[in-house]
Amino acid sequence: MSAELVRRARAVQKNAYCPYSKFRVGAALEAADGRVYVGTNVESASYGLTICAERMAIGAAVADGARGFSRIVVATEVDPPASPCGACRQLLAEFGLDLEVIAVGPKTERRWVLRDLLPDAFARATLAK
Ligand code: THU
Repeated sequence: MSAELVRRARAVQKNAYCPYSKFRVGAALEAADGRVYVGTNVESASYGLTICAERMAIGAAVADGARGFSRIVVATEVDPPASPCGACRQLLAEFGLDLEVIAVGPKTERRWVLRDLLPDAFARATLAK
């Protein structure tokens, strides 16, 4: 069930630091062993330094030693719910294209598998050739 992951994403979304966009994002990333890592967006007066919620969650997970992931929930306040940006798709892809991506808005939900969000992904295997 994704209800608990949605709850975690919604909870961390409240902590978003987004004084410029006012666009709150919360992410909850579930590791293969069930551990959950959360992230939220952090903006800067130097706009380009902004960190997305998804990449924040990946950072927390990797710092804790997690590597394989099964699902990520991304919570926003828009319907249809926002999907992860291109940069976040690429960093998520680093850890596997089978990740289930669940986007939730106030009223609706969308689901994908990461490989469908990032076709022909540039990946580690490409570097090995
Ligand atoms: N944002 C995310 O946190 N994740 C995404 O996948 C797309 C965008 C944030 C960055 C910025 O703080 C705000 O949403 C508006 O772009």
